[in-house]
Amino acid sequence: MRITDIIEKKRDGKELSTEEINFFIEGICSGSVYEYQASALLMAICIRGLDKRETADLTMAMARSGDMIDLSEIPGVKVDKHSTGGVGDKTTLVAGPIVAACGVPVAKMSGRGLGHTGGTIDKLESIRGFRTSLSREEFIRNVKEIGIAISGQTGNLAPADKILYSLRDLTATISSVPLIASSVMSKKLASGADRIVLDVKTGSGAFMKTLEDSIKLAEEMVSIGELTGRKTATVVTDMDTPLGNCVGNALEVREAIEVLRGRGPEDLKTVCCELAARMLELGGKGDIAFCRDLVENSLKDGSALKKFGELAMKQGAEYMPWDERAMQEAVVKHPVKATREGYITSMESELVGKASMLLGAGRKTRDGTLDHSAGIILYKKTGDYVRPGETIAELHTSSRKLLPEAEAMLIQAYGLSPEAPAERPLILAYVDSSGVTRY
Ligand code: URA
Repeated sequence: MRITDIIEKKRDGKELSTEEINFFIEGICSGSVYEYQASALLMAICIRGLDKRETADLTMAMARSGDMIDLSEIPGVKVDKHSTGGVGDKTTLVAGPIVAACGVPVAKMSGRGLGHTGGTIDKLESIRGFRTSLSREEFIRNVKEIGIAISGQTGNLAPADKILYSLRDLTATISSVPLIASSVMSKKLASGADRIVLDVKTGSGAFMKTLEDSIKLAEEMVSIGELTGRKTATVVTDMDTPLGNCVGNALEVREAIEVLRGRGPEDLKTVCCELAARMLELGGKGDIAFCRDLVENSLKDGSALKKFGELAMKQGAEYMPWDERAMQEAVVKHPVKATREGYITSMESELVGKASMLLGAGRKTRDGTLDHSAGIILYKKTGDYVRPGETIAELHTSSRKLLPEAEAMLIQAYGLSPEAPAERPLILAYVDSSGVTRY
């Protein structure tokens, strides 16, 4: 088999066999397929597409390129959750403990943030002492003992995806539905869960900017799940506005705790509860109405909050996460005032994420350091009316000199108009193997 023949075949719009896809993935891992050849094939895939079988084959080949985590020692149906990434997205911190408190085991491997989007692992590490690098044994033992563990991804999880992802980043081949779907799902399959709930974000702060593209991506991932024997369901949720009022690591943990206490912003609570209910449904707890009740009860009776405390203690936290000593507080807090009057009609979530990153909450490179206390509290969001001089947000950072650029960027994120914006639902669609439901 020759890689040039495979590139030529896809260039001409023909279907690749399972063997050809395996040859490509093995080749990029061993180095026998050069980066320029891989890039050419990625571009051909981007333009010509892959059918469902080819996409499932690519996903399996990438999943098998590294460690395949075996969770069979943990009794029960293991349900994983994954978000395609957004701004202020702390749903794992809330949905994970709820699901575990309701009796479905959560064995979750999470990532770090990059660019304008945050990552669960960085958020958890803002809790003093919280360890996110667990050995396989400790990870499994914790899930068996307390029903939940959240760990960083091992270095060898789907290494082929890491290679392809960095090439895609450099060759304008990121935005291809089969390539995104196989990239996300390869890591999910390698992480070992039986069932998968995906939160596909749509809008200005997300990867997929339109609802139609987001539904296409959701359908593709559900189809991969079916073809590889992992039942998958997808909730498509709004990311035109940041989720909740806090962006930045420690701030987001505090906000997640508020939701676990049954308080916190309504938008965040709605998305977290829906994801948790879908995870419980997939975990076999009952129909969706029953699972939504279970979720509500776990917030009311405090069991979800208690589970978050147990998780933190088990993974080394020095204090309960709601203890004021548990997390660092920013030394500089700077109010941002509205300069104009009107309704907030739009928020460029990506700019909000970037402003937070400039304050120190995110990394500029994969190995960069971050300031866990940095971030933004949004006091006004889409739909609110503001007057000049009113405080719309508060910037948190460790260094005053970071304020001007971040403030200018945040102000640019807000779109104002004399007319109130139309209301947009937060949960836009649900996609599983029986089809698409739009809300
Ligand atoms: N997240 C991933 O893991 N892969 C993609 O291609 C896009 C988002």
